Amino acid sequence: QAFFKPIQSCDPPSSTKRHTKISVIGVGNVGMAIAQTILTQDLADELALVDAKSDKLRGEMLDLQHAAAFLPRTKINASVDYSVTAGSDLCIVTAGARQNPGESRLNLLQRNVALFSNIIPPLAKYSPDSILLIVSNPVDVLTYVSWKLSGFPSNRVIGSGTNLDSSRFRFLIADHLDVNAQDVQAFIVGEHGDSSVALWSSISIGGVPVLSFLKNQQIAYEKQTLENIHKAVVESAYEVISLKGYTSWAIGYSVANLARSLLRDQRKIHPVSVLAKGFYGIDGGEVFLSLPAQLGRGGVLGVTNIHLTDEEVQRLRKSAETILEVQSQLGL
Ligand code: NAI
Ligand code: LAC
Repeated sequence: QAFFKPIQSCDPPSSTKRHTKISVIGVGNVGMAIAQTILTQDLADELALVDAKSDKLRGEMLDLQHAAAFLPRTKINASVDYSVTAGSDLCIVTAGARQNPGESRLNLLQRNVALFSNIIPPLAKYSPDSILLIVSNPVDVLTYVSWKLSGFPSNRVIGSGTNLDSSRFRFLIADHLDVNAQDVQAFIVGEHGDSSVALWSSISIGGVPVLSFLKNQQIAYEKQTLENIHKAVVESAYEVISLKGYTSWAIGYSVANLARSLLRDQRKIHPVSVLAKGFYGIDGGEVFLSLPAQLGRGGVLGVTNIHLTDEEVQRLRKSAETILEVQSQLGL
């Protein structure tokens, strides 16, 4: 019995709007921050949640469903069985161990690689045309692992990478200069972690290149001031983890921002972890690390060819070597 009596003259429902489905694997701090940002920003028609802990999973699903009266309409399902993810446009993986205070991201590798061999194959099986967006740490190596395990083309396997570090960088610069972070164009590239690289030479604010502006105005600045800002970016996560135990809100917004660019074909440029071989002289092996990449419905559409100084290129290659060294322990 239909609740509404249909109106005879009513046009049939339009089939032009594409149904969008996002799956989030892992409903811990990070997975839930991402899920709730996706819901509030109306990025999906359907959201599927998967976790290994069935009670926690059902509890989180119900808690989100109970907000239905205050949110755009999204169908929310959850199961420990990956069939719930079938037909996803985007699969976001946040499952796995997180750092203890003071522990590095790279230290999580062995624990999280083991989990990924149970997570990625079923995701690829149930959503063979989806984009995989990896968030679990160490994100660059796990994105490489996901590429290998899924058999997907590299344009559809992306790590959230330094999209978050770049937001921290933009926040710190904006705070320093008392401007809006959205007016600061600034990239951190390389590893999402300790060997990340700040691209000072290409920073601009409201379209004004910062370093050449300072030089032209003969305003002196200490290189150490710049190094300290980058150091603060690298230490950001360690500080938050030592204070509250984990990071969640910023990564939630960062990943929702990536989901929008991908699923709404925004063709925006984001620093995310992509297969970097062949770009910026990185030729030591198949390594995923963050470069400024254009994102759209097809995944990674291209890598932007921005000018780097010799020092920035050297640091980027060093970051690639750091990741490759860790990756070589995997034997994949
Ligand atoms: P958490 O411990 O709160 O949640 C992890 C979830 O994964 C738990 O609910 C757990 O039951 C689930 N899980 C574990 N094994 C699983 C499996 N085999 N299948 C399905 N689910 C499984 O951890 P949190 O804080 O959510 O962090 C998750 C990951 O995200 C960590 O690796 C962390 O380092 C990473 N992270 C990455 C960021 C980035 O910028 N790339 C930012 C913040 C965290
Ligand atoms: C971050 C995580 C811990 O917040 O990678 O940077």
